[in-house]
Amino acid sequence: AKPEPLKIMIAGAPASGKGSQCEMIVKKYGLVHIAAGDLLRAEIAAGTENGKLAKEYMEKGMLVPNEIVVALVKERLQQPDVQQNGWLLDGYPRSLSQAKALEDLCIRPDIFILLDVNEETLVERVVGRRLDSLTGKIYHLKYSPPETEEIAARLVQRFDDTEEKVKLRLKTHHQNIESVLSLYEDVIVKVNGNLSKEDVFNEIDRQLNMLLEMKSKEDPSS
Ligand code: AP5
Repeated sequence: AKPEPLKIMIAGAPASGKGSQCEMIVKKYGLVHIAAGDLLRAEIAAGTENGKLAKEYMEKGMLVPNEIVVALVKERLQQPDVQQNGWLLDGYPRSLSQAKALEDLCIRPDIFILLDVNEETLVERVVGRRLDSLTGKIYHLKYSPPETEEIAARLVQRFDDTEEKVKLRLKTHHQNIESVLSLYEDVIVKVNGNLSKEDVFNEIDRQLNMLLEMKSKEDPSS
């Protein structure tokens, strides 16, 4: 029998590199990436009532109400590809009540990766971030510039990526992170996110290899 697929949570301040690391983790480990922010932006793009309401909160850097976020994430987690390939939860849970909603479904991670980044670096990363409007790939004007002129012409900026808004998002992060961490103490791995994207990934990759090795020892059928 195949060993149980990996279950990963990744957290960190705004622009700490969660999305960038998730792209690399998914490429190597084939997990299903579920990003709360992306699910919300998809609702906004679809023009739904939930999307309209969510945008009001996101513009203020506040957490979107649980009635909207919890349902979106729960629904995605229950789809068959997630059961089969494992999951990588990005930016969720972001409050104790969201974490408890997962506990009620007996959903717990094997590992909780916390990216630790200095505040000045976060602001610089937010202001220079751009997204490929076609593929959603994350770029940075200085640190991860687009590979071609064609991609450069398609780059867009997120509506909440201003210095003023990132400060509000950061405040919300500080208000909530400790209570979330308290629930996952036994599986938290703190990673220095100030390093280059590749170096941060190397450390995450090392941790995931250790975890897989441990899981295969625990599971005699693998
Ligand atoms: P969300 O979309 O989750 O935003 P966030 O947490 O603020 O995180 P970001 O997506 O901004 O950054 P990231 O850590 O993914 O960094 P990235 O890899 O892009 O949430 C947005 C909003 O939605 C919230 O404010 C809230 O309102 C709402 N929301 C979301 N989840 C919610 C929830 N659970 N409950 C309620 N509301 C919720 O990197 C940033 C930049 O830096 C990029 O340009 C990248 O190229 C560059 N970069 C990355 N790593 C490096 C590196 N190592 N070196 C140099 N540059 C780097």
